[in-house]
Amino acid sequence: MQTEILKIDRENIDENILNHAAEIIKKGELVAFPTETVYGLGADGLNPKAAKKIFKAKNRPEDNPLILHIDEDYKLDELVEKVDDRTKFLIKNLWPGPLTVILKKSSIIPDIITGGGDTVAVRRPKDKLAREFIKYCNTPIAAPSANISGRPSPTNAKDVYYDMNGRIPLIIDGGSSDIGIESTVIDMSLENPCILRPGYYTYEYIKKFIPNVCLDDSLVDDSKVPRSPGQKYKHYAPKAEMKVFVGDKSVEKIKDLALKYKNEGKKVGILVFDKDTEKFSSFTTLSLGNKDNLIEMSHVLFEALRDLDRKNVDIILAEGVKDIGLGKSIMNRMKKSASGNIFNL
Ligand code: TXA
Ligand code: MG
Repeated sequence: MQTEILKIDRENIDENILNHAAEIIKKGELVAFPTETVYGLGADGLNPKAAKKIFKAKNRPEDNPLILHIDEDYKLDELVEKVDDRTKFLIKNLWPGPLTVILKKSSIIPDIITGGGDTVAVRRPKDKLAREFIKYCNTPIAAPSANISGRPSPTNAKDVYYDMNGRIPLIIDGGSSDIGIESTVIDMSLENPCILRPGYYTYEYIKKFIPNVCLDDSLVDDSKVPRSPGQKYKHYAPKAEMKVFVGDKSVEKIKDLALKYKNEGKKVGILVFDKDTEKFSSFTTLSLGNKDNLIEMSHVLFEALRDLDRKNVDIILAEGVKDIGLGKSIMNRMKKSASGNIFNL
C-alpha cells in the first residue's frame, strides 16, 4: 500500500484534504492525524472491521482497548451507559484536552474497541486539526498512538511515516504535537476514580476536580500489575538499550559510562538537559530542553528517542527527573523506554 502524506496549513485549513481523509475513514480504512498529545492512528470507531485494521497496522494485541475521540457536537451519552455528575464536572473543566475518561460502555460500542470489556475510553481532543478531522468523519474516531506497538509514540508526521509507511493510506501532517506525551487516562467507572496513566494533567491537578482520585497501584509501586491493559506491555522503547539516571550526580555518572562504552567500541547516544549538552560534544547528543521546564522535556522526549535510533546508537544514556507532578508522567514513559533501568544517584 502507498502511504500518502498530506500537509495541512493550520492557518488556512484545506477542506479538500479533510474531505479526502473523511472519505477514507468512511470506506473503513485508516488515517493518521495529529492531536495535541501525540499522533493518532484513526479508524471509524463504530465500524468493527475498520477498527480491527488498527491492531494489524500496529501489531497491537487485541486485548488492548482503544480510545474513542469525539468532537464537541458529539454526545458522550451515546457512547456510555451514564455520565455521572463528577464526570460532567471533570470534562466541563478539562475537555477539550489531553484527558481520557473511562466509563461503562453503551450497547453501540463494538467489542473490538473495548477489548471485550464493559468500559470504554473517550477523549475530546483540543487540537484544532484533530477536531476538524473528526467533525468531517462524522463518527467517533478510534485512535491509539500511531506507532508500531512497543515503540515511542510519534509526535510528528515523519515519525508516523517511519513506522506506518506501507501500512496505511494517509497521514495528515499538521506539524509537531504541542504536548508530546499521551493523555491522562482516568477510570471514572470506579467508586474511587483512578488515574491509570498520568499525562500532561497530573495527579495533583486532577485532584482539584476529583478530590478522591487515586493513582493506579502500578504507578506507586513498580512491582504491581497495571489495571490498564496497555500499560503492562513493553512500551516507548527505542531500538537501543537505554539507561536513565536521576539525581545530582547523574551527569557525572553519564559521562563516566559514556567514555567506558565508547572505549568498548559502542556508539553512545546521550540525552541531557541544555546546560549539559556541551559536556558531551564528542558523543551523539540530543537535548531534553531546559531542566526547569518539564513541558519542554515532554515535548521533545519521544522524538529524541526516535532520532537517536535513526542515528544507530548502541546505547542511550539519559538524564531523568523527579517522580512527581509532570515528572511522574515523564518518568512513567522513561521507565518503560529503559525497561526499568532507572538509577537514582
Ligand atoms: O493522547 C492519547 O491518549 C493518544 C492520542 C492519539 O489521543 N492515544 C493513545 O492511545 O495514547 P493508546 O491506545 O496508545 O493508549 C491508550 C491507553 C492504553 O494503555 C489502553 O490500554 C488504555 O488507554 N485504555 C483504553 N481503553 C481502556 C479501557 N476501557 N479500560 C482501561 N484502559 C483502557
Ligand atoms: Mg500507545
